Amino acid sequence: MKPKVFITRQIPENGIKMIEEFYEIELWEDPKAPPREVLLEKVREVDALVTLVTDKVDEELLENAPRLRIIAQYAVGYDNIDIEGATKRGIYVTNTPGVLTDATADLAFALLLSVARRIVEADAFVRSGEWKKSEVGWHPLMFLGYGLKGKTLGIVGFGRIGQAMAKRARGFGMRIIYYSRTRKPEAEKEIDAEYVDFETLLKESDFISLHVPLTKETYHLIGEKELKLMKPNAILINTSRGAVVDTNALIKALKEGWIAGAGLDVFEEEPYYNEELFKLKNVVLAPHIGSATHEAREGMAELVAKNLIAFAKGEVPPNLVNKDVVKIRKPGFG
Ligand code: NAP
Ligand code: GLV
Repeated sequence: MKPKVFITRQIPENGIKMIEEFYEIELWEDPKAPPREVLLEKVREVDALVTLVTDKVDEELLENAPRLRIIAQYAVGYDNIDIEGATKRGIYVTNTPGVLTDATADLAFALLLSVARRIVEADAFVRSGEWKKSEVGWHPLMFLGYGLKGKTLGIVGFGRIGQAMAKRARGFGMRIIYYSRTRKPEAEKEIDAEYVDFETLLKESDFISLHVPLTKETYHLIGEKELKLMKPNAILINTSRGAVVDTNALIKALKEGWIAGAGLDVFEEEPYYNEELFKLKNVVLAPHIGSATHEAREGMAELVAKNLIAFAKGEVPPNLVNKDVVKIRKPGFG
């Protein structure tokens, strides 16, 4: 008999086709996440689970999952999963690194350009008929924004996506500084990026882009104090996790002009609604679409499948997050 997997949302078909050769699949087809009580009920009977960033895998869920042996996260970030709780129960956790790096860096850079050049505001101006009504065809002072060349981009979290962002900025003639948990001498040389401490990064950057995972250490890494250290012309881009930034402090900073603008793909609560933030013209917002390209999403589906299949064959999955789990239980359903 094949092991059972519950997949909490429709993922691209290429992944499903690979998984169904090895697993009996139950797929949650509703675009909304399965309600908590449904998820708790489903995990009682399954051997494997495919999760998304919005599925909370906590102590209560793990306690309810006596047969669960592997959680294959359809994302690179896994802050929704209690890794320690899974490890101590011998449950393998995998993620999807790399295949979404370029897509997410593209989106971060698109947000940076959109805020700097006021693209969304300008689009609304044309579309609403305001431009026509103004009778001003072209004006030297109309929709002035910020240029990129020669400006300093500060990257927080110099991992896969942070470095990909830096490479994009190089093409625009920007100076790159970064702050990260571990210094990266090789990447520094390759990209021509300079390591600085966090405070220097906040004070010197014209643009700041966040690429750290959400952890206890990075929760509200950017709050009132940090926003006050930034330049008044600074633009903050967040494609990491919403809770890396204290949203209330950011709204205050944007309203009071401590910084010039923000581009946000991620929010402390998702889906997100906040009229106070939405009224501000100096922000560009996206509904967590960093990895939303056909290529990245298919790549993620393939990695989820590869991890599940390796595990079913009794092999250590290629993208194992909790490496210590192998000391607790061997891979496989045997
Ligand atoms: P990654 O390669 O692991 O890079 C993360 C970097 O952050 C690493 O260099 C890490 O340092 C550093 N870091 C970790 N904790 C830190 C701390 N407390 N202070 C400073 N630096 C710290 O991960 P990635 O693939 O680039 O992904 C980064 C994050 O982006 C994910 O965790 C996810 O939350 C987010 N993401 C969002 C989207 C989206 O749709 N918006 C898509 C993909 C990813 P070390 O090198 O020492 O480990
Ligand atoms: C998306 O947010 C991811 O972490 O892959």
